Order: sequence, then structure tokens, then C-alpha cells
Amino acid sequence: QTLDMELEAIEKGGYEHFMLKEIFEQPRAIGDCMRGRLSANEGRLVLGGIREYANKLVNAERIIIVACGTSWHSGLVAEYFFEEFCRIPVEVEYASEFRYRNPVINEGDVVFAISQSGETADTLAAIELAKSKGAIIFGVCNVVGSSISRISHEGAYTHAGPEIGVASTKAFTAQLTVLNMIALRVAHQKGTITERRYHELLVELENIPAKVEKALKLDDQIKAISERFQNARNFIYLGRGYNFPVALEGALKLKEISYIHAEGYPAAEMKHGPIALIDEEMPVVFIATRDSSYDKVVSNIQEVKARKGKVIAVVTEGDALIPQMAEFVIEVPKTDEALMPMVSVIPLQLLSYHIAVMRGCNVDQPRNLAKSVTVE
Ligand code: AGP
Repeated sequence: QTLDMELEAIEKGGYEHFMLKEIFEQPRAIGDCMRGRLSANEGRLVLGGIREYANKLVNAERIIIVACGTSWHSGLVAEYFFEEFCRIPVEVEYASEFRYRNPVINEGDVVFAISQSGETADTLAAIELAKSKGAIIFGVCNVVGSSISRISHEGAYTHAGPEIGVASTKAFTAQLTVLNMIALRVAHQKGTITERRYHELLVELENIPAKVEKALKLDDQIKAISERFQNARNFIYLGRGYNFPVALEGALKLKEISYIHAEGYPAAEMKHGPIALIDEEMPVVFIATRDSSYDKVVSNIQEVKARKGKVIAVVTEGDALIPQMAEFVIEVPKTDEALMPMVSVIPLQLLSYHIAVMRGCNVDQPRNLAKSVTVE
């Protein structure tokens, strides 16, 4: 017993929980994921796993992404960059719905299966179905040798290292890294991205670990915000564009480890219903970094303020406008809009972590949840 406890303490590397350790490992995990694959200097992007099927990807008429939970959220981000860079239509599906829907799958469709564990039952079944209809399966897994990585035609590992905490953190940012590299690689071969933008993004990708490192320095500030909101009963998370899936992910993190009800929404959808929930009790987290939807998000913040909601805003460093409106402002380093989710998700992971700890929850093993869902 004592030996087990000592071993666990060693494994946690001085952190109180695996989740916190894994949050802080992200600069390294993202770096490991790019190692040997990307060199901005040489303009090189090599992914061993897509060599043989590279042409299939380049010529894909459609990409279907199947996943669950957090992995589904990275699929949503990937939808934005595959469409933007590669001009390939993308559909992102919950594996559990896809498998029972008699979906239309055509030859020339490429199915991406995203899974940290590589063992999720619904994702596995969705792959089997797509494979039986002739689709090419591309797996993005973290666990080497896992079932999904074995049944996929090709794939790329995220190399984030073991993720023990039930709440997925470093696997998410590593999935985004891999999917981004794949999209850029395909776009470059396809000619759907300019040389200039391609190089810009390679350089910016290489800068992401340092920016995540900087975002992690916000920990104390986020702890203070968490104190203020630890007793909240509900939370709303709002974002647009690349930050919309980040809003969903922030809400999921809070739900699963702190048991506070949270909803993630695209900020513009608010007026179609959820705005009715807003009163002086409601904390609303905006992911409002400087990007093409910034002005729109600012008006969404004003709408919430007009209804007395308490705004916590994740903004780009140096933002002068939003601090005049929001109760709490969290500044993250600037990066390309397409890569921002890897940075803007960091404060949300920390917020859910600290709130859960303050509420006395079992952060690493929340009630009713398992690390990999191997049953239907
Ligand atoms: C994430 O924090 C969750 N615990 C959960 O949603 C998870 O992402 C989902 O079960 C999918 O798991 P996978 O990536 O191992 O397939």
C-alpha cells in the first residue's frame, strides 16, 4: 500500500494530480509530436504515416472525422483547417451516431478516426463500418499499438506520452498538432495554400510550445478566478470560428471534473436560446482572442453584459477593449488564428482543474467516468 502510494507520487512528478502534471507537460508533448516531422527552417514536413496514402488524401472528395468527447472537439477544429487550407469538405461525426445511421460513404472518402486511447468502442465500430464500405481509414491515436491504430490503414501517433487523468488535456493539444501538420502537408501538395502562408504556419507551429509555456504562467491568476466562481451552479462558454470547439472543450472539462453544469456554444447562437439563461449569477467564459471574428465576439460580450452576466474573457495579450467590459481578463500570447485553440484551451483546462480541486472533487478519477470507454 505505502509502496503503491510512493510509486504514484513519483509518477506524478511532484504535482498534486496527474491532470495538473499533464496540463504542464503540454509544451513538451506538442514539441515531441513535431519532433522529426517538422522543420520550418528547411520548409520540411514529413509524416511517415501518410506516405503511401498521401495521394488518396490529396484527392479525397470528402473527409469524415469520427471520434468521441474531447477527440471529437479536436475533430471540429480540424474541420476548420482542412476546409480552409485543403479545400476539402469535412464532416465531423460522433462515432456513436455515425455507426448506427447507415451513413453515405463513397469511394474516395477518407475517414479520420481520432482517439487518445485507441480503444473507444464506438470509434472502433465506426471504423469497422466505414472500412466495410471501402473508405480509407486514417487513425490519430496516442496509445501506440492500440486497437484503432492497428485497424487503421494509415495513421499518425500523437506521441504525447501516457495520459492518466480521465480528463484529456495533453492528448487534445497533441491531436491538434498532428491534424494541423497533416492538413498543411496535404494543402502544400495540393497547392491550395500559398507558399508564404505555408511557411508562416510552419514557423508559428514551431513557436507553439513556447506560447503554451507562457500561457501556463497564468496558473496563479486562474486560481484566483477559480476561487471567485467555485460555488457557481452553471457556466456558459462561448467562442466563434476556431475558438468555438474550444468553448465546447472548456465546458466539457468543467462538467466532467467539477460536476458543475456547463454549456459550450458558438457565441452567435446565444441569441437563439441560451441568452435567456443569463442573469447576474451566470459566469460566461468568452474565448475572445484577436481573430477574424473578434468584432463580432465583442458585440456578443456586450449582449451578455447588458443582461448582467459575469464575463471571464480569454483575450490576446495587449487587448485594450475587452478589459473595459469583462470582470476578469486572461491574456494569452498571440498566434495564428488557426493555431490559437492550442493556446486558448490552456486557461480553460486550468480553470476546471482549480475549481474541481476547490470543490474537493476527485480530479483524476471523476465519478461515473472511465479513461477509455470500451463499452457502448
Ligand atoms: C475527455 O476529457 C473525456 N474523458 C472523454 O470525452 C474522451 O475524450 C472520450 O471518451 C474519447 O476518448 P478517446 O480519445 O480515448 O477515444
